[in-house]
Amino acid sequence: MGYENLIYEKEENIALITINRPKVLNALNADLLRELEAVVEEVEKDGEVRAVIITGAGDKAFVAGADIAYMSGLSPLEAKSFAQLGQRVFSKVENMSKPVIAAVNGYALGGGNELAMACDIRVASDKAKFGQPEVQLGLIAGFGGTQRLSRLVNPGLAKEILFTADQYDAETAHKIGLVNHVVPGEELISFCKGMAKRIASRGPVAVRLSKEAVNQGLNMDLDKAIALEADLFGLVFTTEDRKEGIGAFLEKRKPAFNNK
Ligand code: CAA
Repeated sequence: MGYENLIYEKEENIALITINRPKVLNALNADLLRELEAVVEEVEKDGEVRAVIITGAGDKAFVAGADIAYMSGLSPLEAKSFAQLGQRVFSKVENMSKPVIAAVNGYALGGGNELAMACDIRVASDKAKFGQPEVQLGLIAGFGGTQRLSRLVNPGLAKEILFTADQYDAETAHKIGLVNHVVPGEELISFCKGMAKRIASRGPVAVRLSKEAVNQGLNMDLDKAIALEADLFGLVFTTEDRKEGIGAFLEKRKPAFNNK
């Protein structure tokens, strides 16, 4: 399928999705969100893809937030639907069976930071800037930011970020646990591709079940969550990949996983 507001490329078993409205710093309107939903569904169905990278077009922004011009004309009910659309799409990103890396190449503000937080792993360019500036517009975060931010960093810090609308540089985002790595801008995509390739070389079912255990477990109490882990640990023993992985170790060779 062709996309107007994003670029979808596939390099071997890595999918690269580039949010592509650089003239407005990749701001998210409803059309773009629907395309993002469609590409996520396309990637999800593609048995070849083992890992996904999401980034922004141009050298200035990952995503500078929801599209403010678009939002200026919304009624309260339309605004609620817009928030629900963004939330649905970001939940699909979060719950994809394949790992998703956000390559944050510039501003990740408002809906941009919310998109990055819906990804599994965040890597920032040293030029990236993070924040939730909604209160400066008289709004609140609406694409999951109040919830994902307070789960990722401590709730006090999340409140400070949400209440002040301050911008944070990449090093600070790293210090507070919002991003895993900070790398020079020109190395960002190759760094993320390297990580995606390492993930893609591991047992695909095992990676998928690891993601499921973390995501589902975070919404449970610890006893239930570790019980889920034991169930998934048992499940992975039904797979050909488990036989191959353990066999390869014992035979001192590289495993050739087949995602079964
Ligand atoms: N929506 C719509 N257009 C945007 C935009 C956004 N979120 N962010 C930037 N743009 C547009 C600007 O209007 C400008 O367009 P024109 O050239 O036509 O004037 C273009 O992108 C370039 O932006 P600037 O000239 O402002 O670039 P700058 O380098 O001076 O500043 C910036 C960069 C600090 C990111 C500034 O653009 C900015 O503050 N943007 C808005 C950030 C923001 O408030 N985001 C939160 C949106 S609300 C939200 O996301 C709600 C939610 O949770 C669902």
